[in-house]
Amino acid sequence: MPLELAIPSRVPGEPLCLGDLELPSRFCLAPLAGYTNLPFRLAVREMGGLGLATTDLVNARALLLGSAKTLDLVMTAPEDRPWAVQIYGADPGELAAAARKVESLGASSIDINMGCPPRSPREAVVRPSFAMWGRRSTWFDPWSNRSPCP
Ligand SMILES: Cc1cc2nc3c(=O)[nH]c(=O)nc-3n(C[C@H](O)[C@H](O)[C@H](O)COP(=O)(O)O)c2cc1C
Repeated sequence: MPLELAIPSRVPGEPLCLGDLELPSRFCLAPLAGYTNLPFRLAVREMGGLGLATTDLVNARALLLGSAKTLDLVMTAPEDRPWAVQIYGADPGELAAAARKVESLGASSIDINMGCPPRSPREAVVRPSFAMWGRRSTWFDPWSNRSPCP
């Protein structure tokens, strides 16, 4: 049986929502570093039933600097919707600026990777380190002017 027939596009019950964004199904493609680029996301979408596809994790600073490798990670297409971009970084201001850039690229949702603690002081410059940021307000402040993107 073709996969699109096997996977219902909508499961009974309440739809899954991220803020105001109502997903077409509850089946989401998780971010997979090294895999979830545009061709991969489109190939999975072709199977049908996908509610949301997320990019690889994208470094906030590299995105703001316009690194070619990073811009490849956020490459998208009109049929690549709804589309989430996962960002990570160690600086709350950079994360907020990167979120605004991601929104300007047309992302449906912004995902923040908080789960990879730095293994060395060198990595702490770019890796998410919420435990190291200390007081909650320190990392929430830059988001007070945040984008409406869920
Ligand atoms: C190769 C690989 C790359 C991954 N990359 C990311 C990533 O970039 N960001 C992230 O949040 N999780 C990443 N994950 C975690 C997955 O998104 C997912 O949460 C994990 O595999 C558990 O999913 P499961 O319960 O469906 O197996 C990665 C996992 C794998 C196996």
